[in-house]
Amino acid sequence: MRLALATLMAMLTLQACEVEEASREGDARFPLEPHYLIPQYTPANGQIAAGVVTGKSEALEQPIPFSHNIHAGTLGINCEFCHNEARNSIHAGVPPVQMCMNCHEYVKTENEDVLKIHAHYCAEPPCKVADGPFGPIAPEEARPIEWQKVHDLPDYVYFSHKRHVRGGVQCTECHGQVQLQGAKETVFEDGEEVEKVMTVMVRESTLQMGWCLNCHASHPSIDENYGDQADLRRAELKDCWTCHR
Ligand code: HEC
Ligand code: HEC
Ligand code: HEC
Ligand code: HEC
Ligand code: HEC
Repeated sequence: MRLALATLMAMLTLQACEVEEASREGDARFPLEPHYLIPQYTPANGQIAAGVVTGKSEALEQPIPFSHNIHAGTLGINCEFCHNEARNSIHAGVPPVQMCMNCHEYVKTENEDVLKIHAHYCAEPPCKVADGPFGPIAPEEARPIEWQKVHDLPDYVYFSHKRHVRGGVQCTECHGQVQLQGAKETVFEDGEEVEKVMTVMVRESTLQMGWCLNCHASHPSIDENYGDQADLRRAELKDCWTCHR
């Protein structure tokens, strides 16, 4: 008897849900398109945790074909060495030209792309780096390398690197396996085989709202960092105000 009642109750609630959903469809007050709140990726498919998310962007035209594969992959330079604002600020930051010159004053100065760095740094390349009281200083004629933005959220979205990085979310979970991007390829130049960096960085994640929400509902760091308050934190991270303020 008890069981039958429970089943009946369950059926009733199920039906109630269905009716509600049905009435929302085609109702102008509840537009389900183009911006519906259903996450595009289900938590169980592992896409986000593996950093393998779809929605790759087209490669942009960059002033210098900078290779993450050489610097972050082969040389193993830490992401935060170059993007050193990530832990303390909203932005991760892209390194200034003098930072490249720390190494490229001497490294690979015969390479045409490295010479482009020099051309941004001083009037007459190859350049020498001058030391100021607090380390290397850029000469007056130095001008920034104008990198095109690969990731760009709309202005009405609030996003901060700091909280994510400090909470233990890895760069690669959101940006993909960046250290594999820009690997050298063999190409023919004047009938000769040369190894060249042919591709620049692309965006691997969609950066859509569903992508954010999906991770906020399922990231393991929330249980680790908040313990029995985790559900409360997850609810907070779902709140519209968290990202639209
Ligand atoms: C030697 C310095 C250096 C290292 C190390 C480095 N990066 Fe970068 N990164 C750059 C430069 C320069 C750019 C701008 C050029 C470009 O977008 O290709 C960039 C661009 C990016 C962008 C895109 C920025 C935009 O416009 O949206 C992301 C994301 C990024 N890096 C993530 C990483 C991650 C993750 C790592 C570690 C696996 C890493 N970087 C290691 C120098 C570096
Ligand atoms: C910590 C040292 C270091 C820093 C900082 C650094 N690089 Fe490099 N970079 C290297 C080394 C080492 C190589 C050579 C790798 C090789 O040929 O095996 C290289 C290679 C290159 C090349 C040549 C790639 C090719 O075709 O062989 C370019 C272009 C380049 N870097 C651009 C940059 C830019 C732009 C920055 C600043 C955002 C930068 N690098 C910062 C160490 C550095
Ligand atoms: C939770 C996801 C997430 C994590 C973790 C994350 N990023 Fe980002 N990153 C983004 C988003 C989203 C943007 C675009 C921000 C915008 O347009 O306002 C971005 C932009 C960037 C940019 C472009 C410049 C800027 O500051 O806006 C760089 C460089 C970058 N990230 C590097 C990194 C590095 C390095 C790490 C690890 C230390 C990292 N990111 C961790 C999501 C993330
Ligand atoms: C890969 C997982 C992941 C993705 C993707 C992600 N986040 Fe988060 N986000 C987190 C985690 C985990 C926290 C909680 C960090 C903490 O409190 O320790 C968080 C916290 C936040 C916070 C709270 C900051 C605060 O000060 O309380 C904001 C805002 C935020 N995320 C915005 C976004 C936006 C916008 C996007 C999409 C563009 C996004 N996040 C994508 C994992 C993610
Ligand atoms: C975790 C962060 C996050 C939360 C929480 C969040 N949003 Fe968003 N929202 C985004 C991002 C990122 C975008 C921009 C990308 C996109 O359109 O998917 C966006 C875009 C939007 C847009 C513009 C849609 C369009 O297609 O132009 C609306 C409207 C919106 N959100 C409403 C809401 C409402 C209502 C809530 C609360 C139920 C909410 N958002 C909660 C991250 C968030």
